[in-house]
Amino acid sequence: MKAIRVHQPGGPEVLVLEDVPLPEPGPGQVRMKVEAAGVNFLDVYHRMGAYPLPLPMTPGSEAAGVVDAVGPGVDGFKPGDRVAHAMHPGSYAEYQIVPAHRLVRVPDDISLRDAAAAMLQGMTAHYLACSTFPLGPGHRALVHAAAGGAGQMLVQVAKLRGATVYGTVSTAEKARIAREAGADEVILYTEVDFEEEIRRLTGGEGVDVVYDSVGRTTFDRSLRCLKPRGYMVLFGQSSGPVPPIDPQVLNQRGSLFLTRPSLAHYTATPEELAARAGDLFTWMREGRVKVRIDRTLPLADAAEAHRLLQGRATSGKLLLIP
Ligand SMILES: NC(=O)c1ccc[n+]([C@@H]2O[C@H](COP(=O)([O-])OP(=O)(O)OC[C@H]3O[C@@H](n4cnc5c(N)ncnc54)[C@H](OP(=O)(O)O)[C@@H]3O)[C@@H](O)[C@H]2O)c1
Repeated sequence: MKAIRVHQPGGPEVLVLEDVPLPEPGPGQVRMKVEAAGVNFLDVYHRMGAYPLPLPMTPGSEAAGVVDAVGPGVDGFKPGDRVAHAMHPGSYAEYQIVPAHRLVRVPDDISLRDAAAAMLQGMTAHYLACSTFPLGPGHRALVHAAAGGAGQMLVQVAKLRGATVYGTVSTAEKARIAREAGADEVILYTEVDFEEEIRRLTGGEGVDVVYDSVGRTTFDRSLRCLKPRGYMVLFGQSSGPVPPIDPQVLNQRGSLFLTRPSLAHYTATPEELAARAGDLFTWMREGRVKVRIDRTLPLADAAEAHRLLQGRATSGKLLLIP
């Protein structure tokens, strides 16, 4: 089968298409024929070695497809079932081995491409808005990179929970997309100081929660956008890692909370995974959450997909099609 492989960490050019043996599913495992693999920033960190995986490795932490074979002891899935997963590496390939307990079923009325596009960023939006800081009416939330893949999903979930949402983006076109996703106000953080804008928009009060996936360039000012006892949810680092901070800063800024969550810890059991994916698919069927596929590329163009994502050239999901 064809698969993208990385032999040494590095730039997008280390993603090479190779012929590799078709893997056999072991006990408790399923072999999935990948119909679409989602591209996420996580894959960039795996490729660069920032979050190291054993080499050589196949990146890709999200896919949807059809069960092709099952290993011993798997009784919940059979060949032909439509399935999807997130957070199990190896999806930039024609076939992927996935533990059965990490798979969810895709309802018949949801396309496999939409399922592949929704799993990682959609379930991230779910846990951030429903569990890490459970949003409700009356809450004000600041979402950075609101036209990005995770950002657009988070804006939509935050709106359906009744919060007021402020989004930041880098361009006028991305502002349009963030508004379309439901953001009440959109701030061009490349042109204006978002901290001043948040102070103005909230009458000096600040927001209840900041969902920050940008990291290095936004973190300090994000803390200053919070109300006393507000929540700083740092869930990514698209602009680079945040340097170490003195916990006393949280005291000075008003007894703030700081968390650095990961989807893996919020889908830790098969029950939790099924519940989050189930809500997400329901919202998608009801049209309350829409997946925006920015573009689809052939599997062989994985390097180009990474260049686009890192170059801030996307607004929504990038899919690789084997
Ligand atoms: N913790 C978790 O559970 C979890 C789950 C999913 C994703 N994440 C993290 O969330 C972040 C976003 O992931 P994503 O896949 O949805 O990507 P994305 O948001 O679609 O793409 C990244 C966006 O970040 C913004 N950005 C700001 N400064 C940047 C810079 N210097 N370089 C590149 N981009 C920059 C850009 O939007 P503008 O042009 O509008 O600034 C860019 O489009 C990543 O850090 C990812 O690891 C974390």
